Amino acid sequence: MVISIEHRSFWKGKNVLITGHTGFKGAWLSSVLLNAGANITGYSLDACEEPNIYNVIGVSKELNSVIGDIRDMQRLQKTFNEAKPDVVFHLAAQPIVRESYNDPVSTFDINVMGTVNLLECIRKSRSVRSFVNITTDKVYENQESYWGYRESDRLCGHDPYSNSKSCSELVTFSYRNSYFTDSEASAISTARSGNVIGGGDFSNYRIIPDCVRAVQNNEDILVRNPYSVRPYQHILDCLSGYVLLAQKQYENKSKYEGSYNFGPDHKDCVNTSLLVGKFCEAWGSGVKWVSNSLEGPHETVTLKLDCSKANAVLGWNPLFNIDQCMDKTVEWYKAFVNGDECDSVTMKQIREYFA
Ligand SMILES: NC(=O)c1ccc[n+]([C@@H]2O[C@H](COP(=O)([O-])OP(=O)(O)OC[C@H]3O[C@@H](n4cnc5c(N)ncnc54)[C@H](O)[C@@H]3O)[C@@H](O)[C@H]2O)c1
Repeated sequence: MVISIEHRSFWKGKNVLITGHTGFKGAWLSSVLLNAGANITGYSLDACEEPNIYNVIGVSKELNSVIGDIRDMQRLQKTFNEAKPDVVFHLAAQPIVRESYNDPVSTFDINVMGTVNLLECIRKSRSVRSFVNITTDKVYENQESYWGYRESDRLCGHDPYSNSKSCSELVTFSYRNSYFTDSEASAISTARSGNVIGGGDFSNYRIIPDCVRAVQNNEDILVRNPYSVRPYQHILDCLSGYVLLAQKQYENKSKYEGSYNFGPDHKDCVNTSLLVGKFCEAWGSGVKWVSNSLEGPHETVTLKLDCSKANAVLGWNPLFNIDQCMDKTVEWYKAFVNGDECDSVTMKQIREYFA
């Protein structure tokens, strides 16, 4: 899927609210939709940690940024009243598994009550026609199976983060069935994507940011779970799914709303050691990794997604294989490390992808 001329004419002039716009995915999504001509309002906490992609690519200059907590209902409602969004993407979350073990209470609070608050605003809104709640591949009850999870599989994430996202899915089902059944009501969907890689992620406890930090410090890359298999995918493949779903369900609610997996092809679901090996190869300069499988909290070993539904219903496919994902990712971080203009690299990658 690409944002073709037809898609651009859809997004041009649309009012779009993105929660979590200061984060990794939110900053990229804002850039993609700004490039397609949408008016963006972002709602999230400040991007206070340095570095962060939001400031590095300077996306704040082009959108209406509201700094607020997703748990602050009054401020969120005020933002809705002013922005009058046609389309809403929900990305604001506490998204890190390890941090959820340290602080389960705020993880559930942000990820579950944040979804409730947002759906309340959508319920009262007269403008919203399309809502996509971004959850995760980790919402499924883990079976450690060779096969990818399907949208119909049981939801029951293991750790607090994964489970809070399963709960966010259930909250969304409940609101859709209780308040959005009318054909004129907003379409309501959830999107479960794989482990996203791409330039500009600086989070702790994520493998590509760990690789970049190691390179910057002239250290070997320590890999915690080298044999965990994950559906690694490029940020632009993931976002193309969200954008396509939001558009299609805006145009035809009954046909398209629902839950969708967006992940890589089966052959590109690789283990972390292979992924990091590809990072070292693409980076060059003798970078290498070592295993560091010390005791840590439980993490799933094998996680894959079956994306047949997104393909059959929406016509969505990932464009990049694992090598192309890594090339794009390394291109971005090399620009960052060399002090080059990362906003130009981001825009170049978006234009090439959606060309
Ligand atoms: N990155 C991945 O690999 C991945 C994979 C699957 C799903 N997801 C989901 O995608 C979404 C975005 O993830 P990301 O990787 O961009 O994470 P991120 O940490 O880079 O961004 C999170 C965003 O949420 C905002 N936020 C956090 N707490 C908030 C609060 N209390 N109130 C308002 N805003 C708050 C942050 O300010 C930031 O803008 C999350 O919902 C995450 O669960 C991410």
